[in-house]
Amino acid sequence: MTRNVIVTGGAGYIGSHACKALREAGYVPVTFDNLSTGWEDAVKFGPFERGDLLDRARLDEVFAAYRPVAVMHFAAFSQVGESMKDPGRYWRNNVIGSLTLIEAAVAAGCMNFVFSSTCATFGDQDNVVLDEESVQMPINSYGASKRAIEDILENFEQAYGLNSVIFRYFNVAGGDPEAEVGEFHQPETHLIPLMLDAIAGKRDALTIFGTDYDTPDGTCIRDYVHVCDLVDAHVLGLKWLEDGKGSRMFNLGTGKGFSVREVIDHSRSVTNRDVPYVEGDRRAGDCTKLVSGSERAVTELGWRPERSNLVQMIGDAWRWHQSGHYDK
Ligand code: UFG
Repeated sequence: MTRNVIVTGGAGYIGSHACKALREAGYVPVTFDNLSTGWEDAVKFGPFERGDLLDRARLDEVFAAYRPVAVMHFAAFSQVGESMKDPGRYWRNNVIGSLTLIEAAVAAGCMNFVFSSTCATFGDQDNVVLDEESVQMPINSYGASKRAIEDILENFEQAYGLNSVIFRYFNVAGGDPEAEVGEFHQPETHLIPLMLDAIAGKRDALTIFGTDYDTPDGTCIRDYVHVCDLVDAHVLGLKWLEDGKGSRMFNLGTGKGFSVREVIDHSRSVTNRDVPYVEGDRRAGDCTKLVSGSERAVTELGWRPERSNLVQMIGDAWRWHQSGHYDK
């Protein structure tokens, strides 16, 4: 029997990797994407249905056509800085869009829902290891919009029995080791792709945002997780729901933090090239240190984030960067 999964945002960075993992696990990933930030040539592993989350009629049509066993919901705007300048865009697309999708799923009787949330829902709790019980105090509209969707999912479980697995991501990096898909944002704001651009001479030198933080080398510390490990957790989360284990939330990180300078040092050794960089001011909204307590995913889901080391993450991102796909 065909097991279709609606993947919103399947044309984006994480969604396209999820589609590959779903296909390898025997599902048919059906990408639902409006291509506002995604790329049609990243839809390689199943059908493509172009549509907008705010278009309920289009959603109903797609649910009726595919009768999916689950939804994986990646589609969202995700830039912290932009969310502070234009909060309405985030509340409309992320919250109202998700609400429309959730209502369409329930109306279609599709009661398994996997949702991509973020450590940005925790806010600025510097130097704390964040686990699933940590209090959520978002400091930006992006994090607030994701937390609101978590609340909607909880309410829809109480009212209609919708089962959800919520994943809160830390810093997602790397790419498909076979370079069939990879990371490409327009505009790019993330550390590793910007650094690889600088190494390859495609951009000016990388700017280190702040060197006076209260960390051993003065730069911010983040918990980087390989995108392929991250999407593996989603497949495990889907099986969890199909096994009837009920709603649960999981943080996805490794529990190890690396500073910006440490990432630069690893990039130098992986690419054998110099990393042109300058030291700049702090970027507004950056926390000193964000590190996950991710034991729940390991012990309960059986997740093994074996690719989430900097050498593999930077190496896979570099291979994709060097492949022709990158230059759109
Ligand atoms: N950094 C630089 N220079 C750059 C870009 C980034 O020094 O040009 C630094 C940042 O200051 C930060 C680290 O590199 O210390 C990582 O920055 P990213 O922009 O790659 O990632 P963030 O930690 O800012 O953001 C990530 C996700 C967001 C999510 C956020 C939660 O990309 O979607 O974590 O805090 F909201």
